[in-house]
Amino acid sequence: MKKIAALLLLLSIITAASFAGSKQKAAKPVGDEQKMNQFISSLMAKMTLEEKIGQTVLFSSWWDVTGPISNNNFVKDAEEGKVGAVFNALSVDFLYRMQKAVVEKSRLHIPLLFGYDVIHGYRTTFPIPLAQSASWDMGMIERSAAVAATEAASDGLHWTYAPMVDIARDPRWGRVAEGAGEDQYLGSKVAVAQVRGFQGSNLKDVSTILACAKHYAGYGASQAGRDYSTVDMSERYMRDYYLPPFKAAKEAGVASFMTAFNEYDGTPCSSNEFLLNQILRKEWGFKGFVVTDYTSIAEMVKHGNVKDEKEAGEAAMNAGVDMDMQSGIFMKYLKQSLKEGKVSEKRIDEACRRVLEMKYQLGLFDDPYRYCDTIRAKQTLLKPEHFVAAREMAKRSIVLLKNEGALLPIRSDVRSIALIGPMAADKKNQLGTWHTAGRAETVTPILDALKARAKGVAVSYAKGCDFEGTDKSGFAEALEVASKADVVLVAMGEREDMSGEANSRANIDLPSIQKELLAELHKLGKPVVLLLHNGRPLTISWENEHIPAILECWHLGSQAGPAIVDVLFGDYNPSGKLTMTFPRSVGQIPIHYNMKNSGRPYNPSDNFTSHYKDMPNDPLYPFGYGLSYSTFKYSAISLSKSAIGLNDTLKVKVSITNTSKFDGEEVVQLYIRDLVGSVTRPIKELKGFKKVAIPAGKTVEVEFSLTAPDLAFWRKDMTYGVEAGDFKIFVGTSSSAVQEANFRLSETASVKW
Ligand code: NOJ
Repeated sequence: MKKIAALLLLLSIITAASFAGSKQKAAKPVGDEQKMNQFISSLMAKMTLEEKIGQTVLFSSWWDVTGPISNNNFVKDAEEGKVGAVFNALSVDFLYRMQKAVVEKSRLHIPLLFGYDVIHGYRTTFPIPLAQSASWDMGMIERSAAVAATEAASDGLHWTYAPMVDIARDPRWGRVAEGAGEDQYLGSKVAVAQVRGFQGSNLKDVSTILACAKHYAGYGASQAGRDYSTVDMSERYMRDYYLPPFKAAKEAGVASFMTAFNEYDGTPCSSNEFLLNQILRKEWGFKGFVVTDYTSIAEMVKHGNVKDEKEAGEAAMNAGVDMDMQSGIFMKYLKQSLKEGKVSEKRIDEACRRVLEMKYQLGLFDDPYRYCDTIRAKQTLLKPEHFVAAREMAKRSIVLLKNEGALLPIRSDVRSIALIGPMAADKKNQLGTWHTAGRAETVTPILDALKARAKGVAVSYAKGCDFEGTDKSGFAEALEVASKADVVLVAMGEREDMSGEANSRANIDLPSIQKELLAELHKLGKPVVLLLHNGRPLTISWENEHIPAILECWHLGSQAGPAIVDVLFGDYNPSGKLTMTFPRSVGQIPIHYNMKNSGRPYNPSDNFTSHYKDMPNDPLYPFGYGLSYSTFKYSAISLSKSAIGLNDTLKVKVSITNTSKFDGEEVVQLYIRDLVGSVTRPIKELKGFKKVAIPAGKTVEVEFSLTAPDLAFWRKDMTYGVEAGDFKIFVGTSSSAVQEANFRLSETASVKW
């Protein structure tokens, strides 16, 4: 009986909306937006204040939590209309049951929104985002996000907390694994690809989910690379470097933004009116909703910009936050705050409306269970074609860092291979940080893939040691196995939980036990290939000096083994390039390619210039660096003009010849330098890239187009625009190996930001 009554009520809401819609239709065609507004207005007219506040409340279920559980009663509360969304609740059956209970028991039958951290795959795990960015392959990145969305949506989810678009210049910070590295231009392109992948072109499509650009803003600049630490930067830095990927995500139509844990200019991001009201809403016109990060409203009390939780809730609501993740503060205090005139009803209505709009756009008011189809889930999760995509993404993410004597690809006369190291047969750690719903049993480890591919070649294995610790009891076996092989592959690096949230490291060397094992293996005098696995740049100067071949394999997910083996045997020619600088030592941090020149740039013949006494200034491997089995020769740059005006396009051409016998792919990178500005400009800025296939022995011409707005920056007077003057242009294979040319911009003008 109850069920029938509930359904009748739900129908009455839907009919109210359709009726309103059809009345309008008679007069003139109604746009989708108008229809939605009418539906939500009529729904909100029935809502009590508590129910409106309820839509702004998000609680975690019990899976995958990254902080305290603050409300064990969230389902009961949702049934009373006090909760609008739930995260960390998984699986189609469980979500169906929760949705049903809430829709049937709550007064207005408003469906819940289900969120989750779908970061790099769902059940089929893709490479960690930092690895994906190293592919510079936007099509593949979009496809990876689309597969993740399809799987997550089939399992009942509506909303992912991705992409993380934080610029990350400090490899000690564990969360660099989750982003696209240090550059805002590349980061913006990756952000767009991910948003498109997750959201597709129609949110009503049940194979898409809402995306969330996080962590807004500046989280990547945590001082000393320590997670949750404070941030201090100028508005100019924020706008020039940290905000562009967020803006790109907004322009790609991202549905939601997540505020960051850190403060910006003395105010925690969850109450930062400047970031939320001024930039996000007024300057960019963002129409979606803003959720906080986990308990970050409550954390304001510890930050010390408010005296208690009630004040924290008011500060967040007034700054433009629409949903409180896990603090329970909106639920607890907003009604009282309204009574006291500390927040306005208009603001609460606005927040509630924004959340309802997303539920509407997902089609949840048409059918709250449209994401809960057990048959679809069975047919979708872990589909073979998802594994194909994961392997494609994984092999494109691998970066060849060193290949002395063309040790790779493995030659056909190799008869025996030893595979050593803690990652060699490991499944779980290949999943990487934030694999959330991913499972170790989906992973094909290197050892299995190697045995399958190396037909006629003897493969022997020894673990040698663990990721960390002091136990050397496996060394002898590893040395014995290695001494009998023609080639020694050593799979080492970080466990999955050594990067990611709350996993900062002050020392980013290979853990010492692994380093010792590697040194012992090196002493055998055998050809050694190091297969590095890590969620961040590591300091590997010793390894670079002594080990002839190094492949950066990150944490590659379900298809890690097959992808690595594809590259080892030359079935795939590596094409990845680093998106974060690898320092020689943590003492060089911060180090990134787009640094400022300073007034005393290093001059070896002048001591009083910027340098270290004990190490070079330059990194071990620069941004954009990565080798191929092919060798590429770049021609000089040819420019269509020597000067451009505001409405001109500069065509930049280079020819690249593959001078090897391997077909290959090259990521051709274009950088500029603005030589004189009203404020100082970086020594290089990425402004374009193209990934091109170049068959062995062939030459291809690559053309870039640059226009004046591409040269814009935040000028001395804090307006966005371009300044007439001289520029250098660089094209090359990495940020430090480039051809140069010069051009002039003839006019100064403001540019729309
Ligand atoms: C905290 C993390 O900072 C954020 O990225 C994540 O989405 C939330 N926890 C939810 O798990």
